[in-house]
Amino acid sequence: MWWEKAFNRLGIIALISLVLAACNAPDMTPSEPTAPTYENEAYTQFLIRLTRLSTEAVQPIPETVPVQPKVVKLGKELFFSPQLSRNDTIACASCHILSQGGDDNRPVSFGIHGRKGEMNSPTVLNSGFNIAQFWDGRAPTLEAQAEDPITNPVEMGFDTLQQLVDKLNADAHWRQRFLDTFGEPPTADGLRFALAEYQRALITPGSRFDRYLMGDQDALNDQEKRGWHAFQHLGCINCHQGINLGGTLFQKIGLYKPTLMEEKRWLGRFNVTQHIEDKFVFKVPGLRNVADTAPYFHDGSIPTLEQAVAIMIEAQIDLPPQPEIIDDLVAFLKTLSAPLKEVGLEP
Ligand code: HEC
Ligand code: HEC
Repeated sequence: MWWEKAFNRLGIIALISLVLAACNAPDMTPSEPTAPTYENEAYTQFLIRLTRLSTEAVQPIPETVPVQPKVVKLGKELFFSPQLSRNDTIACASCHILSQGGDDNRPVSFGIHGRKGEMNSPTVLNSGFNIAQFWDGRAPTLEAQAEDPITNPVEMGFDTLQQLVDKLNADAHWRQRFLDTFGEPPTADGLRFALAEYQRALITPGSRFDRYLMGDQDALNDQEKRGWHAFQHLGCINCHQGINLGGTLFQKIGLYKPTLMEEKRWLGRFNVTQHIEDKFVFKVPGLRNVADTAPYFHDGSIPTLEQAVAIMIEAQIDLPPQPEIIDDLVAFLKTLSAPLKEVGLEP
C-alpha cells in the first residue's frame, strides 16, 4: 500500500532529521499494574519519547525499560515451558536460546516431532524495539506474534490458541500463576501479554559500541572505529538504524544485485501485501549481538559474518567488497554484543 512505502521512506528521514532540543530524559521507572490489564501503555509511551528525543540515526540501548515485573516473571515461566507445545516437547526457548544470542544457531528451526521449518530463527533479544515482528513483519506487535509459533504445525503444533488456553486452565499450577498475576485464570490475552512483556524485558545494554556512543572514546579500538566510520559512509546506516541498528524499515534484498538473491524462495513482504514491488522485501534485521546469531539472512543460508557483510556491500551498496573494509566492518559489528539483562527480574 502507498502509505507503507511512504512510511518506510519517512522512517529514514524522520530518524535522521529529528534534531530536537534536549528535553526531559524519558521516564524509565517500571510501574506495577494497579488493576489487571493486558497492555503496557507506559512502554508504548516510552518508545515514542525515546524516538522523539533522539538526535542520531543510531542510539544506545537504554539501561532499563518500563515493564511490569510480575508479568515479566510469568512470561519467563511460559517462555521456558515445553507445555506450550502440543506434546510437551518444545518451548519458545528451544528455538530462541537466550544464552546464545536469542536464536537457535541453525539455518532453519526444528519444531514438534522434529519437523523442519523454512525460516531462520531471529533473535528475541531487544525485539521490543522493532517496528514489527517476523522477517516479513506480518505481526505488528509482540502480542500479535505470540500466537503464530503456538499454532504453527512445524513449531508447537496446537490447532488453535484456545486449545493451549484450555490446557493451561486445566492445570492447577498455571491457573494459580495467572490468578496471582492478573487476578483471573488463563486467557488468550493474558498469555499473549505475558510472553510479550517478557520479551520486551530482554535487553542488552552496555555494549562497547554503546559506551562509545555515550562518549567513551577508548571503548573502541582503531579498527573498530574505522568499521563504524565505514558503516556510516558506505550507507549501511541508511537501512540499519535506530536502537537495534535495524528493525525500523522494510527493504529489498539484492537492491543492486538481484541475481545474488535469485535462489531465495521466500518472498518477504509480498506475502503480507501481495504487491509485486514487495517481492524480496524483508524487515531490515537488527544487528545487536549479530556476532552471536550465525547463520545469517532470512533463510539462514550464509554461515559467517564476513560473508554476510560481503554480500551486503555488493548487493545493497553496489561496491566491490574489499577484504580490509569487510574486516573493519566485522570488527565493528562485534562491538555490538553485550550480556543479556532481564529487566524486572534483577536481584
Ligand atoms: C520451532 C522453532 C520456534 C519456536 C518453538 C518458536 N519460535 Fe519464534 N521464531 C522462529 C522462527 C523460524 C522465526 C522467524 C519466522 C518468520 O519470520 O517467518 C521466529 C520469529 C520469532 C519472533 C520475531 C523476531 C523478529 O525480530 O522478527 C519472535 C518475537 C519470536 N519468534 C518469539 C517466539 C515465542 C514467544 C515463542 C513461543 C510462544 C516462539 N518464538 C517459539 C522459531 C521458533
Ligand atoms: C538497502 C538496505 C540495506 C543496506 C544499505 C544494508 N543492509 Fe544489511 N540487510 C538488509 C536486509 C533487508 C537484510 C536481510 C536480508 C535477508 O534476510 O534476506 C540485511 C541483513 C544484514 C545482515 C545479516 C543479519 C542477520 O541477522 O541475518 C548483516 C550482518 C548486515 N545486513 C550488515 C550490513 C552491512 C555491514 C551493511 C553495509 C555494508 C549493510 N548491511 C547494508 C538491508 C540493508
